[in-house]
Amino acid sequence: MGDINRFKVFADFIERNYKYNKNILDVAGGQGGLSIELKRKGYNPTIIDPKIKSNINNVNKIKGYYTDNINIDYDLVVGMHPDGATEYIVRNAVKNNKKFAVVPCCIMPINKKLKMNYHEWINYLYNIAGNNVKTAQLPIGGMNIVIYN
Ligand SMILES: C[S@@+](CC[C@H](N)C(=O)[O-])C[C@H]1O[C@@H](n2cnc3c(N)ncnc32)[C@H](O)[C@@H]1O
Repeated sequence: MGDINRFKVFADFIERNYKYNKNILDVAGGQGGLSIELKRKGYNPTIIDPKIKSNINNVNKIKGYYTDNINIDYDLVVGMHPDGATEYIVRNAVKNNKKFAVVPCCIMPINKKLKMNYHEWINYLYNIAGNNVKTAQLPIGGMNIVIYN
């Protein structure tokens, strides 16, 4: 169970860092918590998640997996604890020259044979994330490192 404030805290982080990137792809946001906060702040979020809740109103929804062959237009792609989508978020953003912000949690690289601990997972993602990559720590409990550009 993640920190109950994680969606609000991440939405505040996004607002501070991405004022003008209004079209946001919220990967693994199936519960709707992050997108609802983003909508309140004037963003236009789209959730993509295979386990999306159907009763999230006023937010664009795509029921499915985010992988490397998804063609969706967005300004910024974000993910809070996005499990198997984490590395795709970083790789697709770098490949398409897009902004991203991801808070990794479970260690789920695309290559399932790779074994690493949490610290190594953060370093692995950082190292594939291009030249402008940064990290920050969100004021939430649990997995709270955000990798972003
Ligand atoms: C640990 S939960 C976190 C959910 C939510 N972001 C949160 O913080 O509570 C992981 C979520 O990732 C979703 N997920 C896993 N692989 C995905 C993929 N390739 N694309 C989109 N969503 C994915 C799951 O369906 C699940 O909703």
